[in-house]
Amino acid sequence: TWTPDAFVEATVAELKEKIGKDKVILGLSGGVDSTVAAVLLHKAIGKQLHCIFVNNGLLRKNEFTEVLDQYEHMGLNVKGVDASARFLNALEGESDPEKKRKIIGGVFIDVFDDEAHKVEDAKWLGQGTIYPDVIESVSATGGPSATIKSHHNVGGLPDFMKLKVVEPLKMLFKDEVRRVGASMDLEPERLGRHPFPGPGLAIRILGDITREKVAILQEVDAIFINGLKEWGLYDQVWQAGAILLPVQSVGVMGDERTYEKCVALRAVESTDGMTADWVNLPYEFLQKTSNDIINKVPGVNRVVYDISSKPPATIEWE
Ligand code: XMP
Repeated sequence: TWTPDAFVEATVAELKEKIGKDKVILGLSGGVDSTVAAVLLHKAIGKQLHCIFVNNGLLRKNEFTEVLDQYEHMGLNVKGVDASARFLNALEGESDPEKKRKIIGGVFIDVFDDEAHKVEDAKWLGQGTIYPDVIESVSATGGPSATIKSHHNVGGLPDFMKLKVVEPLKMLFKDEVRRVGASMDLEPERLGRHPFPGPGLAIRILGDITREKVAILQEVDAIFINGLKEWGLYDQVWQAGAILLPVQSVGVMGDERTYEKCVALRAVESTDGMTADWVNLPYEFLQKTSNDIINKVPGVNRVVYDISSKPPATIEWE
């Protein structure tokens, strides 16, 4: 029978054998899969593993520094690269959802390639690919590999993509990845993290992206997600987030009439993201969250809750 401990032992031995004295480069995203893949590789080859964690400027509030800190505490050989400006400049003025994804995928490849070149003589590219990624290798929703393919099918491949690939989680399902992570003492917070899309907040800001909008959405999202955690609801929800709408509406604040932004909150139950139901969050929680958002986030005067299921609605709004 399959056990996480036995998997770790066998995989670490295999990786040692396969990689020998070579260097491996791996992109960390903050998510479960890349983190577990990195920890396995680190167990096998230690500092020969060079991890790169890119801030695209579209992560959750404080996520880049907090997660980078955690990675460092885990002993990973990790370099944090703040490329926010590169991403945000490239996105300027773009409103089309697919074009936003393409831009982000393209800039990511460029940034990652630059960093990969700094690791001299690397032979391998480590990836957190899991079994479901393998079977739907170019997924309709477009995981990182889909983005890479659509961006680079014209010109030549970037150099890091010519490296040999090592994917220690390739035969595992998500729940097995979590169990493997737990058996290596990864923090429950990292293992239980909700899925978060690669293009990040870019696809939760409908319309064009500005630094100001990112900052507003980060605040709103933090209030919502921290609230879910405080109320013990986070683990009952498969994925949650806030969406900044390209809508202004009239409100009153004291004696003044306001004309400000509207955010939508979304929380869904799902097993794989292919279908999803909106979550019946307690009214008291929604009431408190809405008040907090409107009182604490300047520029937002209206909060709505998304009660659409997938299909026909998707989880993300873009
Ligand atoms: P949808 O919106 O298609 O989302 O119902 C299903 C799941 O996929 C995630 N998602 C993405 N993940 N790049 C990603 O890495 C993307 O472009 C992307 N679009 C959607 C979404 O967050 C949900 O978990």
